[in-house]
Amino acid sequence: MNIRMATETDFHPLLQLINTAFDLERFFKNEDRLDVSKLRGYFNKGNFLVLEEEGRLIACVYIERDGDRAYLGLLSVDPSQQRRGLGRRLTAAAEEFAREMGSRFMDLTVVNLRTELLPIYKKLGYRITGTAPFPAQISVTQPCHFICMTKELGHREP
Ligand SMILES: CC(C)(COP(=O)(O)OP(=O)(O)OC[C@H]1O[C@@H](n2cnc3c(N)ncnc32)[C@H](O)[C@@H]1OP(=O)(O)O)[C@@H](O)C(=O)NCCC(=O)NCCS
Repeated sequence: MNIRMATETDFHPLLQLINTAFDLERFFKNEDRLDVSKLRGYFNKGNFLVLEEEGRLIACVYIERDGDRAYLGLLSVDPSQQRRGLGRRLTAAAEEFAREMGSRFMDLTVVNLRTELLPIYKKLGYRITGTAPFPAQISVTQPCHFICMTKELGHREP
């Protein structure tokens, strides 16, 4: 199993992987997590790390730097591959990538309706820092908001 930076050839497999992983959010949303233009926006602003097995993308994570902070998003593990430690591995790889780029904190947001995510990210070392509004342009079937979490990345041992 190999973790590497995504390239342009990963664009469509990534779109499919992310939308498949986030399909479970249809209990409060009526649309795919991403379309081509939204994914293009992420490609233009940040980096994706992908994890592949036998030539197939099975997990990914997005990292965007903002000064000494970085943002982790779109953590996606193919539903058939979940609970094998891949999410934990990719999160660690994203943190290492951000640390090497000079970031001191990793931030992320989770939708409050996804109650299973808080304990997962707490296990991975993140703590809650506050809340933020859910983007008004995304149509939802029930009220929701973001819970903001962060983790101090610390220094790498020389
Ligand atoms: C959330 C997600 C990325 C987790 O990936 P994963 O590879 O299944 O997670 P891991 O196997 O690395 O598990 C990490 C830890 O969380 C726990 N965990 C994972 N899924 C869990 C669940 N559904 N409920 C409770 N705990 C869970 C694991 O037990 C593990 O803890 P441990 O190492 O102490 O045993 C994956 O379920 C996913 O892709 N979900 C859909 C997309 C999504 O919601 N992404 C996050 C949006 S913010």
